[in-house]
Amino acid sequence: MRVMAFNGSPRKTWNTATLLEQALKGAASQGAETELIHLYDLKFKGCISCFKCKTRGGKSYGKCAVKDDLTPVLKKVEAADALILGSPIYFGTVSGEMHSFMERLLFPYLTYTDPPQSLFPKKIPTGFIYTMNVTEEIAQDWGYGQHFDKNAQYLQMIFGTSESLFCFDTYQFKDYTKVLATRFDAAHKAKRRQEIFPQDCQKAFEMGARLARQAE
Ligand SMILES: Cc1cc2nc3c(=O)[nH]c(=O)nc-3n(C[C@H](O)[C@H](O)[C@H](O)COP(=O)(O)O)c2cc1C
Repeated sequence: MRVMAFNGSPRKTWNTATLLEQALKGAASQGAETELIHLYDLKFKGCISCFKCKTRGGKSYGKCAVKDDLTPVLKKVEAADALILGSPIYFGTVSGEMHSFMERLLFPYLTYTDPPQSLFPKKIPTGFIYTMNVTEEIAQDWGYGQHFDKNAQYLQMIFGTSESLFCFDTYQFKDYTKVLATRFDAAHKAKRRQEIFPQDCQKAFEMGARLARQAE
């Protein structure tokens, strides 16, 4: 069983990456082979709207025809048994790299039929881990939920199932005294990091284990 995770943060050791690592540990605890891909290590673009993935009888029907660093990654996805996406929230949405990745991952499998159908050959579970600076209350007030729900709907439609994990009020930088960030209470942030983040890590571990069990 193969479980793949995708880090949409440029930082490889911070909130999103740590939670993805925990999720993969959870998957490994159920016997899965795991791989974490840092999207910022790859040179790739979002969908270029060539429509080769939708060209009748074409050799790229149902596949992304663009050739770049994402090509071998998308090939591996074909053989994956579960997928876990992770992204920081940038300006109310996933990071640019994660968005570009999602365009390339999802669009080739989506048919332009009525109703739309998925060309992904099997049903696999997926998960999405979001990390963000705002509190849960602000995320609700600012309507972040709509964005999260949309992503879950697309993942469900293409792959089968999707669950989400939200990590709010994250610790953003090593030293709050060095950064001009008077909006944030450094002591509160440090407390969140110490007390809440470990709980989020545990939730991520459990998510990974659950997805791997569902994939069996
Ligand atoms: C360019 C940029 C934009 C951001 N925009 C938001 C935002 O709109 N809402 C939010 O809650 N946090 C925002 N943040 C904070 C990050 O989402 C948050 O610190 C996240 O946990 C960082 O993930 P990482 O530690 O894995 O890099 C932003 C951070 C950056 C660098």
